[in-house]
Amino acid sequence: MSESDTRELLARLAASLFARGFSVGSAGNISVRLEDGFLITPTNSSLGRLDPARISKLDASFTHVAGDKPSKEVFMHRAFYMARSDAGAVVHLHSTMATAVACLPDVDMSNPIPPLTPYFVMRVGRTMPVVPYYRPGDAAMEPAIHAAALGARAVLLANHGPVVSGKTLTDAVYAAEELEEAAKLYLLLRGTQPRLLTPVQVDDLLSTFG
Ligand code: 13P
Repeated sequence: MSESDTRELLARLAASLFARGFSVGSAGNISVRLEDGFLITPTNSSLGRLDPARISKLDASFTHVAGDKPSKEVFMHRAFYMARSDAGAVVHLHSTMATAVACLPDVDMSNPIPPLTPYFVMRVGRTMPVVPYYRPGDAAMEPAIHAAALGARAVLLANHGPVVSGKTLTDAVYAAEELEEAAKLYLLLRGTQPRLLTPVQVDDLLSTFG
């Protein structure tokens, strides 16, 4: 896909996430890998109203080379790209349900949301750890995210929100949407004893769908 088509797609998917309440105000940021670098949403921009031509461009070393000033979370995205050669895009949201789970003190920090549904497993994978709280824009979170991303396609930032990678931009957006739904189900079912997918069922999903 050309850079110009990628810019258009990023703006369209971001607007769709915003329209459905997955991000509000200027929260969230999205990046995508190009052949010669990365696109990332500008800092303080609303995902609902991105101008494709003004989306920030970074070179392959994550240096800003064109477009508006990039998100202050460039290092959060860099942590994923450096940890995962399969990451073609990264979506960070403050979506309500996933962020609610990221605020719970009594969850399994190595994997707070159990395998409730196939699409959560297929899109997000086997594990999604919680990374300890850091102030938004604090570069100190990069090593912690990098370490977690080595073994997971997505992480929850404590008291902040999800960061989700995917092979393509569309895949990363789908995964962020599935994560939000899984978080909602998990919160709905808290205090009950839901039937979970078994380890064999999880293995079957991952070997069939990757
Ligand atoms: P930016 O506007 O700099 O992308 O930051 C938004 C955000 O979601 C911080 O975590």
